Amino acid sequence: MKHEDPIRVLFVCLGNICRSPTAHGVFAQKVSDAGLAGLVEVDSCGTGDWHVGNAPDRRATAEALRRGYDLSTQRARQVATADFERFDYILAMDRMNMRDLEALRPHDFSGHLGLFLGFAPAASEDEVPDPYYGGDDGFGHVLDLVELASDGLLQEVRDARRRK
Ligand code: 4NP
Repeated sequence: MKHEDPIRVLFVCLGNICRSPTAHGVFAQKVSDAGLAGLVEVDSCGTGDWHVGNAPDRRATAEALRRGYDLSTQRARQVATADFERFDYILAMDRMNMRDLEALRPHDFSGHLGLFLGFAPAASEDEVPDPYYGGDDGFGHVLDLVELASDGLLQEVRDARRRK
Protein backbone atom coordinates (compact mmCIF):
# COMPACT_ATOMS: atom_id res chain seq x y z
CA MET A 1 0.00 0.00 0.00
CA LYS A 2 1.74 3.18 -1.19
CA HIS A 3 1.28 6.25 0.96
CA GLU A 4 -0.69 8.19 -1.67
CA ASP A 5 -3.03 5.28 -2.47
CA PRO A 6 -6.53 5.56 -1.07
CA ILE A 7 -7.74 2.88 1.30
CA ARG A 8 -10.13 0.73 -0.71
CA VAL A 9 -13.16 -0.91 0.89
CA LEU A 10 -15.42 -3.50 -0.81
CA PHE A 11 -18.75 -4.60 0.69
CA VAL A 12 -20.02 -8.01 -0.41
CA CYS A 13 -23.40 -9.73 -0.12
CA LEU A 14 -25.24 -12.32 -2.21
CA GLY A 15 -27.18 -10.30 -4.79
CA ASN A 16 -25.58 -6.82 -4.51
CA ILE A 17 -29.04 -5.26 -4.53
CA CYS A 18 -29.93 -5.01 -0.81
CA ARG A 19 -27.28 -5.22 1.91
CA SER A 20 -23.97 -4.38 0.23
CA PRO A 21 -25.36 -1.41 -1.77
CA THR A 22 -26.78 -0.11 1.54
CA ALA A 23 -23.36 -0.45 3.20
CA HIS A 24 -21.72 1.14 0.14
CA GLY A 25 -24.07 4.16 0.22
CA VAL A 26 -23.96 4.67 3.99
CA PHE A 27 -20.20 4.27 4.34
CA ALA A 28 -19.45 6.49 1.30
CA GLN A 29 -21.63 9.23 2.84
CA LYS A 30 -19.87 8.93 6.20
CA VAL A 31 -16.46 9.04 4.46
CA SER A 32 -17.51 12.17 2.61
CA ASP A 33 -18.94 13.82 5.76
CA ALA A 34 -15.62 13.07 7.52
CA GLY A 35 -13.71 14.91 4.77
CA LEU A 36 -12.05 11.68 3.60
CA ALA A 37 -13.47 11.51 0.06
CA GLY A 38 -10.57 10.70 -2.28
CA LEU A 39 -8.65 9.11 0.57
CA VAL A 40 -11.07 6.21 0.99
CA GLU A 41 -12.63 4.46 -2.00
CA VAL A 42 -15.84 2.46 -1.56
CA ASP A 43 -17.47 -0.19 -3.75
CA SER A 44 -19.79 -3.18 -3.43
CA CYS A 45 -20.53 -6.42 -5.26
CA GLY A 46 -22.35 -9.74 -4.94
CA THR A 47 -21.15 -13.33 -4.88
CA GLY A 48 -24.05 -14.22 -7.22
CA ASP A 49 -24.71 -12.98 -10.75
CA TRP A 50 -28.54 -12.91 -10.90
CA HIS A 51 -28.87 -9.14 -10.60
CA VAL A 52 -25.76 -7.93 -12.47
CA GLY A 53 -26.43 -4.50 -14.00
CA ASN A 54 -29.53 -3.88 -11.88
CA ALA A 55 -30.16 -0.91 -9.59
CA PRO A 56 -30.56 -1.66 -5.87
CA ASP A 57 -33.86 -3.09 -4.61
CA ARG A 58 -36.52 -0.35 -4.31
CA ARG A 59 -37.09 -1.16 -0.64
CA ALA A 60 -33.38 -0.73 0.15
CA THR A 61 -33.25 2.51 -1.86
CA ALA A 62 -36.35 3.91 -0.10
CA GLU A 63 -35.14 3.06 3.41
CA ALA A 64 -31.69 4.50 2.70
CA LEU A 65 -33.19 7.71 1.27
CA ARG A 66 -35.37 8.12 4.37
CA ARG A 67 -32.11 8.30 6.33
CA GLY A 68 -30.32 10.57 3.85
CA TYR A 69 -28.32 8.10 1.77
CA ASP A 70 -28.49 7.96 -2.04
CA LEU A 71 -28.17 4.49 -3.61
CA SER A 72 -29.66 5.47 -6.98
CA THR A 73 -26.46 5.52 -9.05
CA GLN A 74 -25.30 2.05 -8.00
CA ARG A 75 -25.50 -0.98 -10.30
CA ALA A 76 -24.92 -4.58 -9.27
CA ARG A 77 -21.80 -6.47 -10.23
CA GLN A 78 -20.35 -9.84 -9.31
CA VAL A 79 -17.18 -10.26 -7.27
CA ALA A 80 -14.03 -11.13 -9.25
CA THR A 81 -10.63 -12.52 -8.21
CA ALA A 82 -9.11 -9.18 -9.29
CA ASP A 83 -10.98 -7.53 -6.39
CA PHE A 84 -8.44 -9.12 -4.07
CA GLU A 85 -5.66 -7.21 -5.86
CA ARG A 86 -7.46 -3.89 -5.58
CA PHE A 87 -9.17 -3.76 -2.18
CA ASP A 88 -7.64 -3.46 1.29
CA TYR A 89 -10.84 -4.37 3.16
CA ILE A 90 -13.26 -6.97 1.79
CA LEU A 91 -16.25 -7.12 4.12
CA ALA A 92 -18.90 -9.83 3.96
CA MET A 93 -22.45 -9.40 5.21
CA ASP A 94 -22.84 -13.02 6.36
CA ARG A 95 -20.97 -16.30 6.76
CA MET A 96 -22.18 -17.72 3.47
CA ASN A 97 -20.65 -14.69 1.70
CA MET A 98 -17.48 -15.25 3.76
CA ARG A 99 -17.21 -18.89 2.64
CA ASP A 100 -17.63 -17.90 -1.01
CA LEU A 101 -14.99 -15.17 -0.65
CA GLU A 102 -12.55 -17.47 1.12
CA ALA A 103 -12.82 -19.88 -1.83
CA LEU A 104 -11.76 -17.04 -4.17
CA ARG A 105 -9.11 -15.54 -1.92
CA PRO A 106 -5.60 -15.72 -3.47
CA HIS A 107 -2.91 -17.03 -1.10
CA ASP A 108 -1.01 -13.73 -1.27
CA PHE A 109 -3.96 -11.49 -0.32
CA SER A 110 -2.63 -9.36 2.52
CA GLY A 111 -5.71 -7.23 3.16
CA HIS A 112 -8.54 -7.73 5.65
CA LEU A 113 -11.26 -10.24 4.75
CA GLY A 114 -13.93 -10.45 7.44
CA LEU A 115 -17.52 -9.95 8.52
CA PHE A 116 -18.66 -6.31 8.27
CA LEU A 117 -20.28 -6.52 11.71
CA GLY A 118 -16.84 -7.22 13.16
CA PHE A 119 -16.74 -3.41 13.24
CA ALA A 120 -19.94 -3.27 15.32
CA PRO A 121 -19.03 -5.16 18.50
CA ALA A 122 -22.04 -3.62 20.28
CA ALA A 123 -24.50 -5.13 17.78
CA SER A 124 -26.70 -7.99 18.97
CA GLU A 125 -25.70 -10.19 16.01
CA ASP A 126 -22.64 -10.64 13.82
CA GLU A 127 -24.26 -11.13 10.40
CA VAL A 128 -26.43 -8.66 8.45
CA PRO A 129 -29.59 -10.73 7.78
CA ASP A 130 -30.74 -11.06 4.18
CA PRO A 131 -33.89 -8.88 3.89
CA TYR A 132 -34.79 -9.87 0.31
CA TYR A 133 -37.62 -12.31 1.02
CA GLY A 134 -38.87 -10.62 4.19
CA GLY A 135 -41.00 -7.57 5.00
CA ASP A 136 -40.09 -3.90 4.84
CA ASP A 137 -39.00 -3.82 8.50
CA GLY A 138 -36.04 -6.03 7.54
CA PHE A 139 -34.62 -3.13 5.57
CA GLY A 140 -34.79 -0.80 8.57
CA HIS A 141 -32.92 -3.40 10.60
CA VAL A 142 -30.25 -3.66 7.88
CA LEU A 143 -29.84 0.14 8.01
CA ASP A 144 -29.49 0.08 11.81
CA LEU A 145 -26.71 -2.52 11.65
CA VAL A 146 -24.98 -0.89 8.68
CA GLU A 147 -24.93 2.56 10.30
CA LEU A 148 -23.43 1.11 13.49
CA ALA A 149 -20.72 -0.89 11.69
CA SER A 150 -19.93 2.04 9.36
CA ASP A 151 -19.04 4.19 12.37
CA GLY A 152 -16.68 1.47 13.61
CA LEU A 153 -15.18 1.03 10.16
CA LEU A 154 -14.66 4.78 9.78
CA GLN A 155 -12.59 4.76 12.97
CA GLU A 156 -10.62 1.78 11.65
CA VAL A 157 -9.75 3.49 8.32
CA ARG A 158 -8.74 6.68 10.17
CA ASP A 159 -6.39 4.56 12.32
CA ALA A 160 -5.12 2.70 9.21
CA ARG A 161 -4.26 6.01 7.52
CA ARG A 162 -2.30 7.08 10.57
CA ARG A 163 -0.39 3.76 10.54
CA LYS A 164 0.67 4.21 6.88
P1 4NP B 1 -28.61 -9.08 -0.95
O1 4NP B 1 -30.09 -9.70 -0.98
O2 4NP B 1 -27.65 -10.26 -0.95
O3 4NP B 1 -28.57 -8.31 0.31
O4 4NP B 1 -28.48 -8.22 -2.19
C1 4NP B 1 -30.49 -10.64 -1.94
C2 4NP B 1 -30.93 -10.21 -3.17
C3 4NP B 1 -31.36 -11.12 -4.09
C4 4NP B 1 -31.34 -12.46 -3.80
C5 4NP B 1 -30.89 -12.90 -2.57
C6 4NP B 1 -30.46 -11.98 -1.63
N1 4NP B 1 -31.81 -13.40 -4.74
O5 4NP B 1 -31.85 -14.60 -4.41
O6 4NP B 1 -32.16 -13.02 -5.87
